[in-house]
Amino acid sequence: MRQVPQLIDALLAVPGAKKTLRRAADFIDIQWTLIDQGLKAVAPRVGGKLLDVGCGNKPYLHIFAPHVSEYIGIEHEAAYAATDAASRETGPDLLYDGRRLPFPDAHFDTLLNIQVLEHTPDPQALLDEMARVLKRDGLLVLCAPFCFRLHEEPHDYFRYTPHGLAVMCERAGLEIVELQAHGGLWSVLGHKLNSYLGMKVARLDAVGQALGKLGHEAQSGRRARLWAAPVVLPAMGVVSAGARVLDRLLPDETEALSFLALVRHSR
Ligand SMILES: C[S@@+](CC[C@H](N)C(=O)[O-])C[C@H]1O[C@@H](n2cnc3c(N)ncnc32)[C@H](O)[C@@H]1O
Repeated sequence: MRQVPQLIDALLAVPGAKKTLRRAADFIDIQWTLIDQGLKAVAPRVGGKLLDVGCGNKPYLHIFAPHVSEYIGIEHEAAYAATDAASRETGPDLLYDGRRLPFPDAHFDTLLNIQVLEHTPDPQALLDEMARVLKRDGLLVLCAPFCFRLHEEPHDYFRYTPHGLAVMCERAGLEIVELQAHGGLWSVLGHKLNSYLGMKVARLDAVGQALGKLGHEAQSGRRARLWAAPVVLPAMGVVSAGARVLDRLLPDETEALSFLALVRHSR
């Protein structure tokens, strides 16, 4: 069971407090901010029937719903059941065994696959399946991590470079038509330092989950060290802000937290 300190529970019950704390947590979470911004930029370009493969608790529904006629979320039954997201109000419309997506060929105009490809032991098979259910002129929005800590263990198998993604897409009869790099050296360093401060020092994972974050992890049973929070939280804010500024001043294209690819059929 998630261990949220009583003080935090009481605070979250105050009207507006949860939203404000969630905003602060999202600012600190550089990875979240970059994915959120990247998807908001892409959303106006999609349409029709959308399938979110590995949707978790559908955190991107509000971004894409205004642009599509239907939003269906599907999850790997066993992998999903082990995550904190499974205990939340919103969730997948369908569960499957991770092998064959239960849809006919060329059924969807848009596919979302966000931070999922690292969690399946056979990512090429998942890409092949997504290519099969994507219409000929459809768009796959694919995001996969490059530098990211171990998570959702033991179901964390791979990290991806743009070149690896291109080869895998080609094997599935797909091609990358656009690529976004999420952050550079300073975001990578900042995100790793903040993960250490937040999760190892202050042990705020259960608090993050109570705010609707870290849904992909198993429910945290660890007690937060709230006494560390007055020092750790401001430090994390400074690290996040500094990383964003340094990424602009001193960019390094050889580092990124993740890559987001827009993918279409190649033949
Ligand atoms: C890191 S979470 C990402 C969830 C969501 N896309 C997001 O960005 O918040 C990875 C998700 O992939 C799901 N997953 C793992 N293997 C899968 C597969 N073969 N097909 C669909 N989903 C899968 C897991 O259950 C988990 O919910």
